[in-house]
Amino acid sequence: MSNKTFSKVIQKNEQDANRTVALVMAITFAFFTVIYILNLVGVFVIDTVPMNIAYFTSAVLLLLPSVINKAAGTSSRKLKYIYVSLSALFLLVITSVLTYHVVVVYAFPIAIAGMYFSKNVTRFSSVITAVVTVCGQLIAFWLGRPDDNFPTFHSLVIYSILPRLLILISFSALLTHMTTRTSTLLKEDAENYEQQVLYNQNMIYGFAMLVENRDENTGGHIRRTSIYAGLLAERLKEKGVCEDIITEDYINCLTMVAPLHDIGKIAIPDSVLCKPGKLTDEEFEIMKSHSARGGEIIKETFSRIPDEEYKTMAYEVARYHHEKWNGRGYPEGLSGEAIPLSARIMAVADVFDAVSEKRCYRDAMPLEKCFSIIEEGSGRDFDPAVAEAFLEMREEISRIRESGEHA
Ligand SMILES: [Fe+2]
Repeated sequence: MSNKTFSKVIQKNEQDANRTVALVMAITFAFFTVIYILNLVGVFVIDTVPMNIAYFTSAVLLLLPSVINKAAGTSSRKLKYIYVSLSALFLLVITSVLTYHVVVVYAFPIAIAGMYFSKNVTRFSSVITAVVTVCGQLIAFWLGRPDDNFPTFHSLVIYSILPRLLILISFSALLTHMTTRTSTLLKEDAENYEQQVLYNQNMIYGFAMLVENRDENTGGHIRRTSIYAGLLAERLKEKGVCEDIITEDYINCLTMVAPLHDIGKIAIPDSVLCKPGKLTDEEFEIMKSHSARGGEIIKETFSRIPDEEYKTMAYEVARYHHEKWNGRGYPEGLSGEAIPLSARIMAVADVFDAVSEKRCYRDAMPLEKCFSIIEEGSGRDFDPAVAEAFLEMREEISRIRESGEHA
């Protein structure tokens, strides 16, 4: 089972966590500001010099994640280590300069690490927090701010450092267990999801092949048109065409629904669908009805599927894949960008593969001829941007066509 979905879930969680961590650290700074002001007006009696050092150093450490997220985005995989380190440095500043009695602050870096569901980050955080816990108290002692309860170095180690370290170890163990448990559950969920996607995909292929096999087409056409459509969408994304529409999810969705583009042929009688010769005008009208009928079938059968993007795209490719850029296609005679992008992509993939394949009424055309059909149809039958992207992938498409995907 591939871990692609699991990695995606983890990566998405990391990005969300980077945002949340920045917010938590900014809120912590806001609380610290309240304490700072209360100290200024005399509610607290903390010395001004250590308070100023702690406050202004913490301002940098606690606000840096917000600045980094804004400037560089949240996608870097290193950010989690940087943010855990910044929170540990905040702990160091508080414990060494102000007080080491605020026990809750010791949990700060570990709580931050817990948001990433990563064993490595939890371990990293545990080690760095342990080091900071020891160093913070030692620095405070050497700065001449020993607590009255721990006047000697010996008492500091035995009654302060040691208990805090023990609390830290048990807290880290608990968090490691929680992180591992959550991570395992997420992985199981991702595997179940991938299996469901595989079942669905196989069902769609099976369904589409039942239809395609009726007119002597085989699974090859369905597989190839799906591959072409997916590659085309990827290529358009690389070129920045319709970049606000074509996302990674869009490409996956289009590849999934592409096999259903001719599902409406189920409603076309064999006498028309499998006729070896030229169709009469009346028969051609019946044949043309497969796209509108396909849209209806998708609407009827997919009505309970909650995924709106999936439903809409399946409907679009089935209903509109015979629309033409110049408005002379069917069923609605839509033109230009009024034709959904998914259908404009599907149209190129479908026509190219249809002409490159033997049909009951004609032989397969040579590949060069198939490419020139796309070239000639650009701006007339096909969206010129889509046709151009397709022609740029000439070598890749030829390889797929000739690599045994003929079955
Ligand atoms: Fe069709």
